[in-house]
Amino acid sequence: MKILVLHGPNLNMLGLREPEVYGSITLAQINDRLSQDAMELGAELSFLQSNHEGVLVDAIHAAFQVQQGILINPAAFTHTSVALRDAIASLNIPTVEVHLSNVYKREEFRHHSFIAPIAIGQISGFGAESYRLGLRALVAHLTASR
Ligand code: DQA
Repeated sequence: MKILVLHGPNLNMLGLREPEVYGSITLAQINDRLSQDAMELGAELSFLQSNHEGVLVDAIHAAFQVQQGILINPAAFTHTSVALRDAIASLNIPTVEVHLSNVYKREEFRHHSFIAPIAIGQISGFGAESYRLGLRALVAHLTASR
């Protein structure tokens, strides 16, 4: 089972970036943890972080008929990107949206997600655990729909 893990803008700065909101964990540590979980779950992960919307759109297109699922933290693009939403919707690949912080506890502009309505579900607020929970949920969904 192949899964694409996408990280949106500024997530390369985790560890340094607003640690009071996002904690001290780095993106490399999150990816390592996911890779360990994936071994247990029988999933094969590919990772991409980009600060550029078009690069993420291209990566989603390239996932067509290659990846069975997408685990995405769209970061700020969650709240702005019709292009990312349309890319995911056009491929019909089961997608789980995750956020480190609880976006609903934060500024109002973070309460709206363009991605959530076309995702299987969203996990928000558990720090790096959001990714781990999201991966498990995605694998369970893909296993059930086989
Ligand atoms: C985030 C929440 C977004 O609102 C923010 O723009 C991010 C990170 C999170 O993981 O909590 O960059 O997606």
